[in-house]
Amino acid sequence: MKVKNICCIGAGYVGGPTMSVIAQKNKHITVNVVDMNIDKISAWNSKDLDRLPIYEPGLSKVVNEARGRNLFFSTEIDKHIDEADMIFISVNTPTKTHGEGMGYAADLKYVEACAKQIAKISKSDKIVVEKSTVPVRTSEKIKEILNRYNKNVKFEILSNPEFLAEGTAMRDLEIPDRVIIGGDNSSAIDSLVKIYSSWVPEKNILTTNLWSSELSKLTANAFLAQRISSINSLSELCEETGADIEEVSKAIGMDSRIGSSFLKTSVAFGGSCFQKDILNLVYIARTLGLKKVADYWEQIIIINEHQRNRFSKKIIQTIDSNNLNPKVQILGWAFKKDTNDSRESAAIYVADNLIKSKISINIYDPKVKQSQIFFDLNYINNDEIKNKELVSVKNNMLKCKFNTNVIAILTEWDEFKHYDWGQIYKKMNKPAYIFDGRNILDRKKLESIGFNYIGIGR
Ligand SMILES: NC(=O)c1ccc[n+]([C@@H]2O[C@H](COP(=O)([O-])OP(=O)(O)OC[C@H]3O[C@@H](n4cnc5c(N)ncnc54)[C@H](O)[C@@H]3O)[C@@H](O)[C@H]2O)c1
Repeated sequence: MKVKNICCIGAGYVGGPTMSVIAQKNKHITVNVVDMNIDKISAWNSKDLDRLPIYEPGLSKVVNEARGRNLFFSTEIDKHIDEADMIFISVNTPTKTHGEGMGYAADLKYVEACAKQIAKISKSDKIVVEKSTVPVRTSEKIKEILNRYNKNVKFEILSNPEFLAEGTAMRDLEIPDRVIIGGDNSSAIDSLVKIYSSWVPEKNILTTNLWSSELSKLTANAFLAQRISSINSLSELCEETGADIEEVSKAIGMDSRIGSSFLKTSVAFGGSCFQKDILNLVYIARTLGLKKVADYWEQIIIINEHQRNRFSKKIIQTIDSNNLNPKVQILGWAFKKDTNDSRESAAIYVADNLIKSKISINIYDPKVKQSQIFFDLNYINNDEIKNKELVSVKNNMLKCKFNTNVIAILTEWDEFKHYDWGQIYKKMNKPAYIFDGRNILDRKKLESIGFNYIGIGR
């Protein structure tokens, strides 16, 4: 099939950037990104490119180039499903919060709703592409729904998981290590290969069967998170032995068999994907009776929780044992730098631990809005009154008063490295402590200013 019209359901962190790049590279294809969230779509259509719903370096330039030419954002879901030759499902697949598999399995209700809607609307043959991260064999379920609700149209299903990382999404989409396309119909596979090959070298486009493609995505995230939990577990050992985790990670990363990426210790990994995808993998293994396999992968999550709790505990103990004013200035809320996404951010959990200990906090993040910060806290602890009482948010760093003994850095934003720490020290109550949850500051320099510096694993 020669694809002339694409519809992508879901204008989120994956759908928006991915379709922007597909449209930029394939001017002959009309790409409609649809979402049921009206505010999100109007933000995507905003004239002011600073108001796009997603902050991602380089994104606004691509949107500016393609939007209105062959890239469109719309809430008219049925219309664009009907017109499309190829439909990407790029909706959220969070961990289930109730029912069978609660706390582990991926909730496929949004994916299934899309499949049902596609089936009900379609009058012509379509290629349906699973872009969302889903459990292995989900495409079978999608196929079953499509065929149950529409017997007149031929649907081909492809799995095309997304490997972009937030913060570097545009670069990852521009020069992906690989694109995986899983399917059982060679003509449908070719149609999608053709779209990607307009900018990705064919040797980097891997075609597989459906199940391998689905499982590759889950396992890629599990492997990446495993490296972070491995190095984080060693950070605790370093603190007990006098070894320095930065030196250890450099030493092991220089081994070409290991490699240096994802060996940076931190307060914990966050983001919408790692935890949910590992929990999903654990669930799949457990339902197949593979207890040892499930326990092995679950340990990654256990270490991650342990790391952020241990970080919080150090702050609380420092405040208690030194009888300090129970107040902390938090720098950074996003789960990593260069994104406004705070889903599963370590900052949420650390802040909640502090709030539970009746410590008041002031929060500053360069990109996450105040409303999102309160949403995150209210969601995690369900205690709106206490959050209002103990939390304040400053969207401008110059408005932060720093009239506290304790600063905690929870996101590795570059701007934090370039602050005038001497000036900040002068404003702070003494003794002054910095808990550097990302090991981004120069310990010697801060200690020479007068700070007590507490990093991770050193
Ligand atoms: N965020 C990442 O870095 C990343 C990377 C790779 C893969 N993924 C996977 O991609 C998928 C999407 O993730 P995301 O971060 O873009 O999620 P997101 O929450 O940012 O966006 C999903 C969007 O889908 C919309 N939606 C849900 N159901 C809908 C429906 N029936 N009709 C229309 N719109 C609907 C929501 O309103 C939302 O805007 C997930 O499965 C995720 O695991 C995410």
